[in-house]
Amino acid sequence: MLDPRLSPATLAKSLGTWRDDGPLHQGLTARLRLLIMDGRIPTDTVVPSERALAEAIGASRTTVSAAYDALRESGHLASRRGSGTRAQLPGPTLSAPGVLGGEHLIDLNQASLPASALVPAALRAAADELPQFLGGTGYDTRGLPHLRQALADHYTARGLPTGSEQILVTLGAQHAIHLVAQTLLRRGDRALVESPTYPHAMESLRLAGARLLTTPVRPVAPETHGGDADGWDIGGLEDVLRSARPRLAYLMPELHNPTGSTMLPATRRRLLAAAAQSGTTLIVDETTAPLRITASVPDDAGLSLGAPLGSAAAWDGDGGRAGTHDRPGAASVVHLGSASKIFWGGLRVGWIRAESHLIEALLRARPMLDLGTPVVEQLATAHLLGHYPQAILERSGQLRHGAETLSRLCAEHLPEWSLPPLPGGLAAWVTLPRPASSALSLSARDHGVLLPAGARFGPDGSAFERRVRLPITVGPDTLELAIPALAEAWGALAKGAPPRRRPALNPSLV
Ligand SMILES: Cc1ncc(COP(=O)(O)O)c(C=O)c1O
Repeated sequence: MLDPRLSPATLAKSLGTWRDDGPLHQGLTARLRLLIMDGRIPTDTVVPSERALAEAIGASRTTVSAAYDALRESGHLASRRGSGTRAQLPGPTLSAPGVLGGEHLIDLNQASLPASALVPAALRAAADELPQFLGGTGYDTRGLPHLRQALADHYTARGLPTGSEQILVTLGAQHAIHLVAQTLLRRGDRALVESPTYPHAMESLRLAGARLLTTPVRPVAPETHGGDADGWDIGGLEDVLRSARPRLAYLMPELHNPTGSTMLPATRRRLLAAAAQSGTTLIVDETTAPLRITASVPDDAGLSLGAPLGSAAAWDGDGGRAGTHDRPGAASVVHLGSASKIFWGGLRVGWIRAESHLIEALLRARPMLDLGTPVVEQLATAHLLGHYPQAILERSGQLRHGAETLSRLCAEHLPEWSLPPLPGGLAAWVTLPRPASSALSLSARDHGVLLPAGARFGPDGSAFERRVRLPITVGPDTLELAIPALAEAWGALAKGAPPRRRPALNPSLV
């Protein structure tokens, strides 16, 4: 069974002292509602049967039955024949968690964390500020000035002096990639991507007419390899830049998705020099960059992030933060960032940092794609940026827990799968003992797990049959269910059981 189930004993413990002076069923109803509302009984958890809970808390079955009825009535519980009674939150939802196409499936397509604990307060603060903005039209294609200033200050503090006119606020990083691709590329232009890479970036580049070239990246944590290798083939990368002179290169030098690798300073310097010579614009996607598992208490500005690629510090490799201006004759670098992984994907706020003439060109191209970023979410993001250090620590704790759970469960259930070092990022780029990733993806579907085949991450559909991406973001409880289910799927493959092919659900791969 794939749904999280709450044991009667655990629920009895969480209920604590629920009896008050009023009727017993009302006290129990109020306490259960509270646990569901504050997330201690997560939505979609199957609660114990009425009889089992009655026994565990020493109450009559009638009391529990009346409480469950009241909670069904108020929309906090839902019962379905054959699958028990589940917790839910009343009101509209994005989609019932874990339910796709009417089925209960574990979704490993989406490597992203739930909202940071900081988000509710930021949204409340945003709602308080909103009245001052209601006199305007609300169409905001550039981004609120104070949010752009906060983002610019963040780059400046990291060693890349930036003015607010160099920032464009977008609807997330995916929108930023799409807008940059539409603006910079002409049909037939060459664009370089890492292999593997973030799949929807490849799609956007292709949609803009690009012919893709690739450079390999393997999962390496420099600290575990003596610091002399970082996963990029910089010699090969320089060769492609020199010979093919691509119009742009889309790269993730910090906690690359999906490998988790980070470019060493020497690689960055050679890349910048080669891109300057070939006239290639580097599109640096830092969506996953803040997600370092080993993040320690960041300084006041929350700068556990290194110097951005292209800053004077990154160019000189001195690790300093006191950059001047982008070097004359240096490579043109566009930075993309996002609130999605560090704060919450539901905000749909991202940004582009570029030279101001490019920002103006992007602004001219934007209205045919969309008419701006919502104001409330921008206001909330500006608040959240003020709490960056807390968010970094919160995320690093969650990811560490996820990575430890994944490593333990894989060692237990799938010992022949090889996990790379996990310095951070969203996922582990796992090596399979034989090339069967696509078949595994189908078999996993039969075992209740949505797992993208390794091939989804490569521009060449046939590559990465020996790889799968396992998210460390989905939470230990989900991993406890997913990994044994994947082990069964893998076992069924080994026995030659033909997968029952069904169309893939949830095409978005984040
Ligand atoms: C590297 C990378 N870039 C961009 C995105 C899209 O992010 P957003 O939610 O900000 O559109 C993702 C999402 O997973 C990602 O991993």
